[in-house]
Amino acid sequence: MKKRTRTLALAMSAMLALGILSGCGGTGTAEGKQIIRIGHNQSTNHPTHTGLIAFEEYIESRLGEKYDVEIFPSELLGSQNEMVQLTQTGAITFCVASNSLLETFSENYTLFNLPYLFSSPEAYHASMDDPDIVGPIFESTKQAGFEAVTWLDAGTRNFYTVDTPIESPADLRGLKIRVQQSPTNVTMMDLLGGAATPMGFGDVYTALQAQMLDGAENNELALTDNGHGDVCKYYSYDMHQMIPDILIGNLDFMEGLSEQERTVFDEGFTILNQTQRAAWEVAVEESKAYAENEQGVNFIYPDIEPFQQALQPMHEDMLAQYPDLAPIYELIEQHNAEFASAS
Ligand code: GCU
Repeated sequence: MKKRTRTLALAMSAMLALGILSGCGGTGTAEGKQIIRIGHNQSTNHPTHTGLIAFEEYIESRLGEKYDVEIFPSELLGSQNEMVQLTQTGAITFCVASNSLLETFSENYTLFNLPYLFSSPEAYHASMDDPDIVGPIFESTKQAGFEAVTWLDAGTRNFYTVDTPIESPADLRGLKIRVQQSPTNVTMMDLLGGAATPMGFGDVYTALQAQMLDGAENNELALTDNGHGDVCKYYSYDMHQMIPDILIGNLDFMEGLSEQERTVFDEGFTILNQTQRAAWEVAVEESKAYAENEQGVNFIYPDIEPFQQALQPMHEDMLAQYPDLAPIYELIEQHNAEFASAS
């Protein structure tokens, strides 16, 4: 398994080498094509990379005279936070960001970060596919200089630890758990009694190995693709969040597309979404098998009710703080009712 060795210096030198920071030679190829740079923080084995390759192929098959799509995996262009900022300024065209991080750019994204928002993966998928739910939220970051164009599956987030089986929230008490850098995730850990340790994804492996953390929380691919299962031997299916990843595009770029080009890009986003989700299903099963058989990770299936009860106040608090999100929350509840028992 590939370990992450990203440093900011590496990212900066990669960007300098590409001419992104120096501003020289950043946007065009020798043949006069416009370069579309897409950054993400996963490896080239990850479903998101597979989906982006399909996107690249589609755009170049339809608009290849004009555009050259280049994909930069593995935080080569920086951490997700840094890539969001590069996308805002137009230094790069697109990046994949976890919905968690986007809540600091628009409060509307807070909704999808709520623990136990969706009653099942089916309700999650139906909600994220519902334009009445995602439309207003995706629109809301235009003021920040980017447009959200499609969502990607990032499965279910669960706690995993070096050596403490998590059977109930009480087992998290006092443990240093890495969370994503968002207020919602810090509140979640506080309510569960753990010590929230926000940090960028690329730094987690080293922090776990150096025993600066007792554990983290993520989907199964973090165990294998990011090597966390080499260090963490207990993975507990408390199913606390289903947080999508979002592809965001620089607003000036998106608004500069002609109507015909925009249609092709929208088709490309749909291809990306569908390819990534199909690859996701397979990747999760493979990861679980590898983690169990090769890395010796123990999978635990706790009663999720005590976790849910501890975190339920976050729903009321969020709705009290952002009453405008109530109608969207209601629509999600309808999908929850429809798909409550599907899994
Ligand atoms: C998942 C998600 C990433 C995110 C990461 C994290 O892997 O797909 O977008 O960066 O979790 O925990 O930071």
